[in-house]
Amino acid sequence: MTSAIHPILIAVDGPAASGKGTIARALARNFRLPHMDTGSLYRAVALTMFRFGGDPGSEFEALRACEGVAQIDPTDPELRSEVVGSIASRISAYSGVRSALLDRQRSFASQSSGAVLDGRDIGTVIAPNATAKLFVTASQEVRAQRRVRELLERGMPAGYEDVLIDIRARDERDANRDTAPLLQADDADLLDTSEMDIDEAIAAAIELVEKKLAAVALKPA
Ligand code: CDP
Repeated sequence: MTSAIHPILIAVDGPAASGKGTIARALARNFRLPHMDTGSLYRAVALTMFRFGGDPGSEFEALRACEGVAQIDPTDPELRSEVVGSIASRISAYSGVRSALLDRQRSFASQSSGAVLDGRDIGTVIAPNATAKLFVTASQEVRAQRRVRELLERGMPAGYEDVLIDIRARDERDANRDTAPLLQADDADLLDTSEMDIDEAIAAAIELVEKKLAAVALKPA
């Protein structure tokens, strides 16, 4: 098996609330790999600014907040709030912020056990050599419904219209920024989950990765 020689590295990218995080966690469980949600790094920078002050319009202040990332508890529920997500979406456009968070992501991706990372630029920038790449998407309306449900489940009140507006704004920012815009890598498999429930989406993701692994195993050395 090739996996004994080359660790399995899985890149999962996609827009806000596409289900990529849930899918990446399920892939990590299924293939017994460690998982990194890279969005939580950008959210940790955002939460540092939200708590201790800092103008998201200033790259200098966002860069300073990068130094506080290690102090943020990754289980802090405020990381998942809409306001923090919205600041994260703004500060993630700064190339300095992206560089400051790069090493942490690359070293996670290069561990000998293999890994699953999810984000926006995993297949294109962080791990272009990944064994399998998925680009997970869904319509903006479906994503807004999912995000409202997720926020309500976390006890954070949210209205569909506001969330939809926010998702549109985030898609626009993610796709149009100069550094590492949200892009499907040429060799990524597209997984549109608009018509799927989460179990179907997970099953489809596992199947796509298994196909990729089988194709890699068959390749002559
Ligand atoms: O799924 P959602 O957009 O709500 O959140 P997330 O994946 O936790 O990411 C938060 C923000 O960080 C996003 O709006 C992205 O703009 C940014 N991000 C990024 O630029 N690059 C990544 N690898 C991950 C997240």
